[in-house]
Amino acid sequence: MHDTLLLFGATGDLAARMLFPSLAHLVRDRLLPESFRVVAVGRQTHDADSFREWLGERVQALSGEVPTSREWRELFERIEYVAADLADPASIPAALGHLREQRCVSYLATPPALFVPITEGLKAAGLLDPPSRLVLEKPLGRDLASAREINAAIRTCASEEQVFRIDHYLGKAAVQNLVALRFGNALFEAVWSRRWIESVDILIAETTGVDGRDGYYAKSGALRDMVQNHILQLLCLIAMDPPNSLDADAVRDEKLKVLRALRPMRAADAACDVVRGRYTDGVVDGRAVSGYTPPEGTDPETFVAVRAWIDNWRWAGVPFRLVTGKRLPQRMTQVVVTFKPVSHWLFENPTRDRATPNRLVLRLQPEESVELGIMNSLAGPEWGGLELKALPLDLTVHRDTPRRIAYERLLLDALIGNPALFVRSDEVEAAWVFADSVIAAWEQGDSPVRPYPAGSWGPAEAADFLPDPLTDPRREAR
Ligand code: BG6
Repeated sequence: MHDTLLLFGATGDLAARMLFPSLAHLVRDRLLPESFRVVAVGRQTHDADSFREWLGERVQALSGEVPTSREWRELFERIEYVAADLADPASIPAALGHLREQRCVSYLATPPALFVPITEGLKAAGLLDPPSRLVLEKPLGRDLASAREINAAIRTCASEEQVFRIDHYLGKAAVQNLVALRFGNALFEAVWSRRWIESVDILIAETTGVDGRDGYYAKSGALRDMVQNHILQLLCLIAMDPPNSLDADAVRDEKLKVLRALRPMRAADAACDVVRGRYTDGVVDGRAVSGYTPPEGTDPETFVAVRAWIDNWRWAGVPFRLVTGKRLPQRMTQVVVTFKPVSHWLFENPTRDRATPNRLVLRLQPEESVELGIMNSLAGPEWGGLELKALPLDLTVHRDTPRRIAYERLLLDALIGNPALFVRSDEVEAAWVFADSVIAAWEQGDSPVRPYPAGSWGPAEAADFLPDPLTDPRREAR
Protein backbone atom coordinates (compact mmCIF):
# COMPACT_ATOMS: atom_id res chain seq x y z
CA MET A 1 0.00 0.00 0.00
CA HIS A 2 1.28 3.48 -0.84
CA ASP A 3 1.70 5.59 2.26
CA THR A 4 1.93 9.14 0.89
CA LEU A 5 -1.19 10.93 -0.27
CA LEU A 6 -0.73 14.24 -2.05
CA LEU A 7 -4.03 16.00 -1.81
CA PHE A 8 -4.52 18.81 -4.31
CA GLY A 9 -7.47 21.07 -3.61
CA ALA A 10 -6.94 20.46 0.11
CA THR A 11 -8.60 23.77 0.95
CA GLY A 12 -11.67 23.03 -1.17
CA ASP A 13 -15.12 21.88 -0.07
CA LEU A 14 -14.81 18.22 -0.96
CA ALA A 15 -11.67 17.83 1.13
CA ALA A 16 -13.30 19.15 4.30
CA ARG A 17 -16.69 17.59 3.64
CA MET A 18 -15.60 14.11 2.55
CA LEU A 19 -11.92 13.38 2.12
CA PHE A 20 -10.44 14.35 5.49
CA PRO A 21 -13.36 12.78 7.42
CA SER A 22 -12.92 9.58 5.38
CA LEU A 23 -9.20 9.55 6.17
CA ALA A 24 -9.91 10.07 9.89
CA HIS A 25 -12.19 7.04 9.82
CA LEU A 26 -9.58 4.96 8.04
CA VAL A 27 -7.10 5.98 10.74
CA ARG A 28 -9.64 5.02 13.41
CA ASP A 29 -10.18 1.62 11.81
CA ARG A 30 -6.42 1.06 11.58
CA LEU A 31 -6.62 0.54 7.84
CA LEU A 32 -3.72 2.82 6.98
CA PRO A 33 -0.04 2.01 7.52
CA GLU A 34 1.84 3.58 10.44
CA SER A 35 3.92 5.53 7.94
CA PHE A 36 0.85 7.08 6.26
CA ARG A 37 0.95 10.83 5.74
CA VAL A 38 -0.92 13.47 3.79
CA VAL A 39 0.73 16.29 1.95
CA ALA A 40 -2.07 18.82 1.57
CA VAL A 41 -1.57 21.16 -1.35
CA GLY A 42 -3.61 24.32 -1.80
CA ARG A 43 -3.35 27.90 -2.89
CA GLN A 44 -3.73 29.46 0.55
CA THR A 45 -0.73 30.40 2.67
CA HIS A 46 -0.49 28.33 5.84
CA ASP A 47 2.06 26.63 7.98
CA ALA A 48 1.25 23.15 9.27
CA ASP A 49 -0.32 24.48 12.50
CA SER A 50 -2.44 27.20 10.97
CA PHE A 51 -3.63 24.75 8.31
CA ARG A 52 -4.71 22.20 10.92
CA GLU A 53 -6.57 24.85 12.85
CA TRP A 54 -8.26 26.20 9.74
CA LEU A 55 -9.09 22.67 8.55
CA GLY A 56 -10.61 21.74 11.91
CA GLU A 57 -13.07 24.61 11.64
CA ARG A 58 -13.90 23.81 8.01
CA VAL A 59 -14.45 20.15 8.75
CA GLN A 60 -16.81 20.99 11.56
CA ALA A 61 -18.72 23.51 9.44
CA LEU A 62 -19.03 21.33 6.34
CA SER A 63 -19.13 17.74 7.55
CA GLY A 64 -20.66 18.21 10.96
CA GLU A 65 -17.88 16.13 12.57
CA VAL A 66 -16.13 17.54 15.60
CA PRO A 67 -12.50 16.81 14.77
CA THR A 68 -11.19 16.43 18.30
CA SER A 69 -11.23 12.67 18.78
CA ARG A 70 -8.09 10.53 18.93
CA GLU A 71 -8.24 9.59 15.24
CA TRP A 72 -8.51 13.21 14.19
CA ARG A 73 -5.57 14.20 16.37
CA GLU A 74 -3.60 11.33 14.86
CA LEU A 75 -4.59 12.35 11.35
CA PHE A 76 -3.70 16.00 11.97
CA GLU A 77 -0.23 14.93 13.10
CA ARG A 78 0.26 13.23 9.75
CA ILE A 79 -0.69 16.26 7.67
CA GLU A 80 1.86 18.56 6.13
CA TYR A 81 0.70 21.64 4.21
CA VAL A 82 2.32 23.00 1.07
CA ALA A 83 1.17 26.08 -0.83
CA ALA A 84 1.42 26.04 -4.62
CA ASP A 85 -0.11 27.77 -7.60
CA LEU A 86 -1.98 24.82 -9.01
CA ALA A 87 -2.46 26.46 -12.40
CA ASP A 88 1.29 26.76 -12.89
CA PRO A 89 3.06 23.44 -13.57
CA ALA A 90 6.40 24.98 -12.56
CA SER A 91 5.22 25.70 -9.03
CA ILE A 92 4.70 22.00 -8.24
CA PRO A 93 8.31 20.77 -8.55
CA ALA A 94 9.31 23.86 -6.57
CA ALA A 95 6.82 23.12 -3.79
CA LEU A 96 7.15 19.33 -3.72
CA GLY A 97 10.82 18.91 -4.61
CA HIS A 98 11.49 17.36 -1.20
CA LEU A 99 9.33 14.37 -2.16
CA ARG A 100 11.08 13.68 -5.47
CA GLU A 101 10.80 10.11 -6.67
CA GLN A 102 8.68 8.91 -3.80
CA ARG A 103 5.87 6.45 -4.42
CA CYS A 104 2.73 8.39 -3.85
CA VAL A 105 -0.92 8.77 -4.72
CA SER A 106 -1.82 12.24 -5.98
CA TYR A 107 -5.50 13.02 -5.51
CA LEU A 108 -6.77 15.92 -7.62
CA ALA A 109 -9.85 17.23 -5.81
CA THR A 110 -9.83 20.32 -7.99
CA PRO A 111 -11.88 21.65 -10.90
CA PRO A 112 -11.00 19.75 -14.10
CA ALA A 113 -9.32 22.82 -15.61
CA LEU A 114 -6.45 22.21 -13.18
CA PHE A 115 -5.98 18.52 -13.94
CA VAL A 116 -3.53 19.06 -16.79
CA PRO A 117 -1.24 21.69 -15.18
CA ILE A 118 -1.09 19.69 -11.94
CA THR A 119 -0.33 16.44 -13.75
CA GLU A 120 2.39 18.11 -15.80
CA GLY A 121 3.85 19.58 -12.63
CA LEU A 122 3.80 16.17 -10.94
CA LYS A 123 5.54 14.60 -13.90
CA ALA A 124 8.22 17.26 -13.85
CA ALA A 125 8.64 16.73 -10.10
CA GLY A 126 9.28 13.00 -10.65
CA LEU A 127 6.12 12.18 -8.70
CA LEU A 128 4.30 10.31 -11.43
CA ASP A 129 6.76 7.56 -12.18
CA PRO A 130 5.20 4.10 -11.73
CA PRO A 131 4.07 2.85 -9.30
CA SER A 132 2.83 6.32 -8.29
CA ARG A 133 -0.84 6.90 -9.04
CA LEU A 134 -3.15 9.73 -9.95
CA VAL A 135 -6.74 10.03 -8.71
CA LEU A 136 -9.07 12.38 -10.60
CA GLU A 137 -12.30 13.66 -9.08
CA LYS A 138 -15.40 14.01 -11.17
CA PRO A 139 -16.37 15.83 -13.32
CA LEU A 140 -13.82 14.88 -15.91
CA GLY A 141 -14.33 17.83 -18.24
CA ARG A 142 -17.62 19.41 -19.17
CA ASP A 143 -18.12 17.78 -22.55
CA LEU A 144 -16.51 15.22 -24.83
CA ALA A 145 -13.97 17.65 -26.26
CA SER A 146 -12.65 18.78 -22.86
CA ALA A 147 -12.64 15.20 -21.51
CA ARG A 148 -10.62 14.05 -24.50
CA GLU A 149 -8.19 16.89 -24.09
CA ILE A 150 -7.66 16.03 -20.41
CA ASN A 151 -7.31 12.31 -21.07
CA ALA A 152 -4.85 12.91 -23.91
CA ALA A 153 -2.69 15.29 -21.86
CA ILE A 154 -2.69 12.92 -18.89
CA ARG A 155 -1.71 10.02 -21.11
CA THR A 156 1.55 11.83 -21.90
CA CYS A 157 2.40 11.90 -18.18
CA ALA A 158 0.99 8.61 -16.81
CA SER A 159 -0.22 5.27 -18.12
CA GLU A 160 -3.89 4.31 -17.93
CA GLU A 161 -3.09 1.79 -15.14
CA GLN A 162 -1.83 4.65 -12.99
CA VAL A 163 -4.98 6.76 -13.36
CA PHE A 164 -7.95 6.26 -11.05
CA ARG A 165 -11.06 8.24 -12.06
CA ILE A 166 -13.59 8.60 -9.27
CA ASP A 167 -17.30 8.03 -9.50
CA HIS A 168 -18.18 7.74 -5.83
CA TYR A 169 -21.37 5.78 -6.62
CA LEU A 170 -19.16 2.82 -7.48
CA GLY A 171 -17.87 2.91 -3.90
CA LYS A 172 -21.36 2.29 -2.49
CA ALA A 173 -21.99 -1.22 -1.23
CA ALA A 174 -25.52 -1.20 -2.65
CA VAL A 175 -24.17 -0.37 -6.10
CA GLN A 176 -21.69 -3.23 -5.94
CA ASN A 177 -24.57 -5.42 -4.87
CA LEU A 178 -26.15 -4.92 -8.31
CA VAL A 179 -23.38 -7.11 -9.69
CA ALA A 180 -23.97 -9.73 -6.99
CA LEU A 181 -27.71 -9.77 -7.65
CA ARG A 182 -27.44 -10.03 -11.38
CA PHE A 183 -24.64 -12.53 -11.66
CA GLY A 184 -24.99 -14.50 -8.42
CA ASN A 185 -28.56 -15.62 -9.13
CA ALA A 186 -29.50 -18.03 -11.88
CA LEU A 187 -33.02 -16.67 -11.58
CA PHE A 188 -32.34 -13.47 -13.46
CA GLU A 189 -30.11 -14.70 -16.25
CA ALA A 190 -32.81 -16.00 -18.55
CA VAL A 191 -35.20 -13.08 -18.12
CA TRP A 192 -32.71 -10.22 -18.27
CA SER A 193 -33.45 -8.93 -21.75
CA ARG A 194 -35.99 -7.29 -24.02
CA ARG A 195 -37.86 -10.59 -24.22
CA TRP A 196 -39.06 -10.32 -20.62
CA ILE A 197 -38.32 -6.78 -19.53
CA GLU A 198 -40.70 -3.98 -20.43
CA SER A 199 -38.79 -0.99 -19.03
CA VAL A 200 -36.11 0.10 -16.59
CA ASP A 201 -36.31 3.17 -14.36
CA ILE A 202 -33.26 4.65 -12.68
CA LEU A 203 -33.90 7.44 -10.22
CA ILE A 204 -31.62 9.48 -7.98
CA ALA A 205 -33.76 11.84 -5.93
CA GLU A 206 -32.20 14.28 -3.50
CA THR A 207 -33.75 16.57 -0.92
CA THR A 208 -30.70 18.81 -0.84
CA GLY A 209 -30.41 21.83 -3.11
CA VAL A 210 -27.58 23.50 -4.96
CA ASP A 211 -26.34 24.61 -1.53
CA GLY A 212 -23.54 27.06 -2.08
CA ARG A 213 -22.11 25.34 -5.15
CA ASP A 214 -23.50 27.99 -7.48
CA GLY A 215 -20.30 28.60 -9.39
CA TYR A 216 -19.95 24.97 -10.39
CA TYR A 217 -23.62 24.14 -10.69
CA ALA A 218 -24.56 27.07 -12.91
CA LYS A 219 -22.22 25.73 -15.57
CA SER A 220 -23.05 22.12 -14.95
CA GLY A 221 -26.73 21.39 -14.28
CA ALA A 222 -28.15 18.00 -13.36
CA LEU A 223 -27.33 16.21 -16.61
CA ARG A 224 -23.60 16.87 -16.35
CA ASP A 225 -23.55 16.59 -12.57
CA MET A 226 -25.46 13.31 -12.14
CA VAL A 227 -26.47 11.63 -15.41
CA GLN A 228 -23.15 11.65 -17.30
CA ASN A 229 -21.54 9.79 -14.41
CA HIS A 230 -23.57 8.25 -11.56
CA ILE A 231 -26.73 7.41 -13.48
CA LEU A 232 -24.91 6.06 -16.52
CA GLN A 233 -22.71 3.92 -14.28
CA LEU A 234 -25.85 2.44 -12.69
CA LEU A 235 -27.29 1.89 -16.14
CA CYS A 236 -24.13 0.05 -17.19
CA LEU A 237 -24.28 -2.31 -14.22
CA ILE A 238 -27.94 -3.08 -14.94
CA ALA A 239 -27.57 -3.46 -18.69
CA MET A 240 -24.11 -4.95 -19.28
CA ASP A 241 -23.50 -8.47 -20.47
CA PRO A 242 -21.89 -10.79 -17.94
CA PRO A 243 -18.14 -10.15 -17.80
CA ASN A 244 -16.09 -13.33 -17.81
CA SER A 245 -14.49 -12.36 -14.50
CA LEU A 246 -14.59 -9.52 -12.00
CA ASP A 247 -11.24 -8.32 -13.22
CA ALA A 248 -11.39 -4.51 -13.50
CA ASP A 249 -10.95 -4.43 -17.26
CA ALA A 250 -13.32 -7.33 -17.92
CA VAL A 251 -16.08 -5.35 -16.18
CA ARG A 252 -15.11 -2.06 -17.76
CA ASP A 253 -15.09 -3.62 -21.24
CA GLU A 254 -18.70 -4.70 -20.75
CA LYS A 255 -19.75 -1.32 -19.36
CA LEU A 256 -18.11 0.39 -22.31
CA LYS A 257 -20.14 -1.70 -24.77
CA VAL A 258 -23.34 -0.49 -23.13
CA LEU A 259 -22.26 3.15 -23.24
CA ARG A 260 -21.33 2.82 -26.88
CA ALA A 261 -24.70 1.25 -27.67
CA LEU A 262 -26.63 4.17 -26.15
CA ARG A 263 -28.59 5.84 -28.92
CA PRO A 264 -27.53 9.50 -29.26
CA MET A 265 -30.50 11.77 -28.69
CA ARG A 266 -31.86 13.49 -31.80
CA ALA A 267 -33.12 17.06 -31.69
CA ALA A 268 -36.48 15.84 -32.99
CA ASP A 269 -36.87 13.61 -29.89
CA ALA A 270 -35.91 16.19 -27.28
CA ALA A 271 -39.49 17.42 -26.81
CA CYS A 272 -40.78 14.00 -25.77
CA ASP A 273 -37.65 12.29 -24.42
CA VAL A 274 -36.23 15.00 -22.15
CA VAL A 275 -37.78 17.07 -19.36
CA ARG A 276 -35.74 19.69 -17.54
CA GLY A 277 -36.72 21.63 -14.47
CA ARG A 278 -35.44 24.03 -11.84
CA TYR A 279 -36.83 24.27 -8.32
CA THR A 280 -38.64 27.30 -7.04
CA ASP A 281 -39.58 28.13 -3.43
CA GLY A 282 -41.23 25.26 -1.61
CA VAL A 283 -41.20 22.97 1.39
CA VAL A 284 -38.87 20.00 1.82
CA ASP A 285 -38.84 17.81 4.93
CA GLY A 286 -41.27 20.24 6.56
CA ARG A 287 -38.89 23.17 6.05
CA ALA A 288 -39.50 26.14 3.77
CA VAL A 289 -36.67 26.47 1.27
CA SER A 290 -35.91 29.06 -1.39
CA GLY A 291 -35.82 28.42 -5.07
CA TYR A 292 -32.61 28.39 -7.03
CA THR A 293 -31.83 31.46 -9.06
CA PRO A 294 -28.80 30.86 -11.23
CA PRO A 295 -26.46 33.68 -12.24
CA GLU A 296 -27.46 35.85 -15.21
CA GLY A 297 -26.76 34.27 -18.55
CA THR A 298 -26.92 30.68 -17.25
CA ASP A 299 -29.86 28.30 -17.39
CA PRO A 300 -28.94 25.10 -15.49
CA GLU A 301 -31.52 22.44 -14.70
CA THR A 302 -31.78 20.99 -11.19
CA PHE A 303 -34.03 18.20 -12.47
CA VAL A 304 -33.70 16.15 -15.59
CA ALA A 305 -35.57 13.18 -16.98
CA VAL A 306 -34.28 11.39 -20.07
CA ARG A 307 -35.70 8.45 -21.99
CA ALA A 308 -32.71 6.49 -23.24
CA TRP A 309 -32.44 3.51 -25.59
CA ILE A 310 -29.70 0.92 -25.82
CA ASP A 311 -29.39 -0.20 -29.39
CA ASN A 312 -28.21 -3.75 -29.00
CA TRP A 313 -29.56 -7.28 -29.19
CA ARG A 314 -30.38 -7.52 -25.50
CA TRP A 315 -32.17 -4.19 -25.01
CA ALA A 316 -33.65 -3.13 -28.36
CA GLY A 317 -36.96 -1.38 -27.74
CA VAL A 318 -36.71 -1.25 -23.94
CA PRO A 319 -36.95 2.31 -22.57
CA PHE A 320 -34.54 3.28 -19.79
CA ARG A 321 -36.01 6.25 -17.96
CA LEU A 322 -33.25 8.16 -16.19
CA VAL A 323 -34.34 10.75 -13.65
CA THR A 324 -32.53 12.88 -11.12
CA GLY A 325 -33.41 16.03 -9.25
CA LYS A 326 -32.60 18.22 -6.32
CA ARG A 327 -35.11 19.40 -3.70
CA LEU A 328 -37.42 16.45 -4.36
CA PRO A 329 -39.65 15.14 -1.55
CA GLN A 330 -37.44 12.20 -0.56
CA ARG A 331 -33.82 11.16 -0.76
CA MET A 332 -33.97 7.98 -2.76
CA THR A 333 -31.91 6.09 -5.29
CA GLN A 334 -33.62 3.18 -6.93
CA VAL A 335 -33.72 1.00 -10.00
CA VAL A 336 -37.06 -0.47 -11.01
CA VAL A 337 -37.12 -3.30 -13.54
CA THR A 338 -40.63 -3.87 -14.86
CA PHE A 339 -41.29 -7.21 -16.52
CA LYS A 340 -43.68 -7.89 -19.38
CA PRO A 341 -47.13 -9.27 -18.56
CA VAL A 342 -47.69 -13.03 -18.74
CA SER A 343 -48.57 -14.23 -22.24
CA HIS A 344 -52.09 -15.37 -21.45
CA TRP A 345 -54.19 -14.36 -18.43
CA LEU A 346 -56.13 -17.25 -16.85
CA PHE A 347 -57.78 -15.56 -13.93
CA GLU A 348 -61.01 -13.73 -13.38
CA ASN A 349 -59.77 -10.99 -11.21
CA PRO A 350 -60.15 -7.32 -10.59
CA THR A 351 -58.40 -5.59 -13.47
CA ARG A 352 -56.10 -3.72 -11.07
CA ASP A 353 -54.27 -6.92 -10.21
CA ARG A 354 -54.24 -8.16 -13.73
CA ALA A 355 -52.49 -5.00 -14.75
CA THR A 356 -49.76 -5.37 -12.12
CA PRO A 357 -46.64 -6.67 -13.81
CA ASN A 358 -43.82 -8.38 -11.95
CA ARG A 359 -41.51 -5.72 -10.78
CA LEU A 360 -38.06 -5.80 -9.25
CA VAL A 361 -37.40 -2.74 -7.12
CA LEU A 362 -33.77 -2.29 -6.16
CA ARG A 363 -33.57 0.44 -3.58
CA LEU A 364 -29.99 1.62 -3.14
CA GLN A 365 -30.41 4.42 -0.64
CA PRO A 366 -31.23 5.68 1.96
CA GLU A 367 -31.76 2.10 3.00
CA GLU A 368 -30.98 -0.82 0.77
CA SER A 369 -33.75 -3.18 -0.20
CA VAL A 370 -34.56 -5.69 -2.90
CA GLU A 371 -38.17 -6.31 -3.60
CA LEU A 372 -39.76 -8.55 -6.17
CA GLY A 373 -43.47 -8.04 -6.74
CA ILE A 374 -45.07 -11.38 -7.55
CA MET A 375 -48.65 -12.47 -8.07
CA ASN A 376 -50.14 -14.61 -5.33
CA SER A 377 -53.54 -15.86 -4.34
CA LEU A 378 -54.33 -15.49 -0.68
CA ALA A 379 -58.04 -16.34 -1.09
CA GLY A 380 -59.63 -18.33 1.70
CA PRO A 381 -62.10 -21.21 1.22
CA GLU A 382 -65.08 -18.83 1.24
CA TRP A 383 -64.00 -17.31 -2.06
CA GLY A 384 -63.90 -20.54 -4.00
CA GLY A 385 -61.37 -19.38 -6.53
CA LEU A 386 -58.01 -17.76 -6.99
CA GLU A 387 -57.80 -14.14 -5.98
CA LEU A 388 -54.60 -12.80 -7.41
CA LYS A 389 -52.77 -9.97 -5.81
CA ALA A 390 -49.30 -8.52 -6.35
CA LEU A 391 -47.31 -9.12 -3.18
CA PRO A 392 -43.73 -8.28 -2.44
CA LEU A 393 -40.92 -10.72 -1.74
CA ASP A 394 -38.93 -8.38 0.34
CA LEU A 395 -35.34 -8.26 1.50
CA THR A 396 -34.38 -5.16 3.41
CA VAL A 397 -30.77 -4.70 4.34
CA HIS A 398 -30.24 -2.00 6.90
CA ARG A 399 -27.26 -0.59 5.15
CA ASP A 400 -26.66 2.78 3.62
CA THR A 401 -23.42 3.88 2.07
CA PRO A 402 -23.50 7.62 2.31
CA ARG A 403 -21.02 9.50 0.25
CA ARG A 404 -18.37 9.63 2.98
CA ILE A 405 -18.24 5.86 3.40
CA ALA A 406 -18.02 5.41 -0.37
CA TYR A 407 -15.03 7.75 -0.29
CA GLU A 408 -13.39 5.68 2.44
CA ARG A 409 -13.58 2.62 0.24
CA LEU A 410 -12.29 4.46 -2.82
CA LEU A 411 -9.44 6.17 -0.99
CA LEU A 412 -8.34 2.83 0.39
CA ASP A 413 -8.55 1.20 -3.05
CA ALA A 414 -6.50 4.01 -4.59
CA LEU A 415 -3.82 3.60 -1.92
CA ILE A 416 -3.80 -0.17 -2.40
CA GLY A 417 -3.91 0.12 -6.20
CA ASN A 418 -7.17 -1.72 -6.85
CA PRO A 419 -8.74 -0.15 -9.97
CA ALA A 420 -11.99 -2.17 -10.02
CA LEU A 421 -14.24 0.64 -8.77
CA PHE A 422 -12.75 3.40 -10.90
CA VAL A 423 -13.75 4.54 -14.36
CA ARG A 424 -11.56 4.09 -17.43
CA SER A 425 -10.89 6.95 -19.86
CA ASP A 426 -12.87 5.35 -22.70
CA GLU A 427 -15.92 4.93 -20.44
CA VAL A 428 -15.81 8.60 -19.48
CA GLU A 429 -15.60 9.62 -23.12
CA ALA A 430 -18.40 7.30 -24.23
CA ALA A 431 -20.61 8.69 -21.46
CA TRP A 432 -19.88 12.21 -22.68
CA VAL A 433 -20.87 11.24 -26.24
CA PHE A 434 -24.35 10.44 -24.93
CA ALA A 435 -24.56 13.42 -22.54
CA ASP A 436 -23.41 15.81 -25.28
CA SER A 437 -26.05 14.44 -27.64
CA VAL A 438 -28.77 15.15 -25.07
CA ILE A 439 -27.51 18.69 -24.51
CA ALA A 440 -27.24 19.34 -28.25
CA ALA A 441 -30.75 17.92 -28.73
CA TRP A 442 -32.29 20.20 -26.13
CA GLU A 443 -30.38 23.19 -27.44
CA GLN A 444 -31.70 22.60 -30.97
CA GLY A 445 -35.02 21.06 -30.05
CA ASP A 446 -37.66 21.97 -27.55
CA SER A 447 -37.03 21.32 -23.86
CA PRO A 448 -37.13 24.48 -21.81
CA VAL A 449 -36.21 24.49 -18.13
CA ARG A 450 -39.58 24.32 -16.37
CA PRO A 451 -40.18 25.50 -12.82
CA TYR A 452 -41.17 23.03 -10.12
CA PRO A 453 -41.81 23.77 -6.46
CA ALA A 454 -39.15 22.45 -4.09
CA GLY A 455 -40.64 19.40 -2.40
CA SER A 456 -42.49 18.16 -5.51
CA TRP A 457 -41.49 15.39 -7.91
CA GLY A 458 -40.31 17.82 -10.59
CA PRO A 459 -42.25 19.49 -13.40
CA ALA A 460 -45.68 18.04 -14.23
CA GLU A 461 -44.37 17.15 -17.70
CA ALA A 462 -42.06 14.56 -16.07
CA ALA A 463 -44.88 12.46 -14.60
CA ASP A 464 -44.50 9.80 -17.30
CA PHE A 465 -40.84 9.38 -16.45
CA LEU A 466 -41.37 8.57 -12.81
CA PRO A 467 -41.68 4.97 -11.70
CA ASP A 468 -44.66 3.89 -9.76
CA PRO A 469 -44.57 3.48 -6.79
CA LEU A 470 -42.35 6.30 -5.73
CA THR A 471 -42.88 6.04 -2.04
CA ASP A 472 -42.15 3.00 0.08
CA PRO A 473 -42.79 0.07 -2.28
CA ARG A 474 -43.73 -2.25 0.58
CA ARG A 475 -46.39 0.10 1.87
CA GLU A 476 -47.91 0.58 -1.57
CA ALA A 477 -48.12 -3.07 -2.38
CA ARG A 478 -49.93 -4.12 0.78
C1 BG6 B 1 -22.20 14.42 -6.47
C2 BG6 B 1 -22.92 15.58 -7.09
O1 BG6 B 1 -21.37 13.79 -7.39
O2 BG6 B 1 -23.17 13.47 -5.98
C3 BG6 B 1 -23.86 16.23 -6.09
O3 BG6 B 1 -21.96 16.53 -7.55
C4 BG6 B 1 -24.81 15.19 -5.50
O4 BG6 B 1 -24.61 17.27 -6.71
C5 BG6 B 1 -24.03 13.98 -4.98
O5 BG6 B 1 -25.52 15.81 -4.45
C6 BG6 B 1 -24.98 12.87 -4.56
O6 BG6 B 1 -24.26 11.84 -3.92
P1 BG6 B 1 -24.94 10.91 -2.81
O7 BG6 B 1 -23.90 9.89 -2.51
O8 BG6 B 1 -25.25 11.80 -1.64
O9 BG6 B 1 -26.17 10.33 -3.43
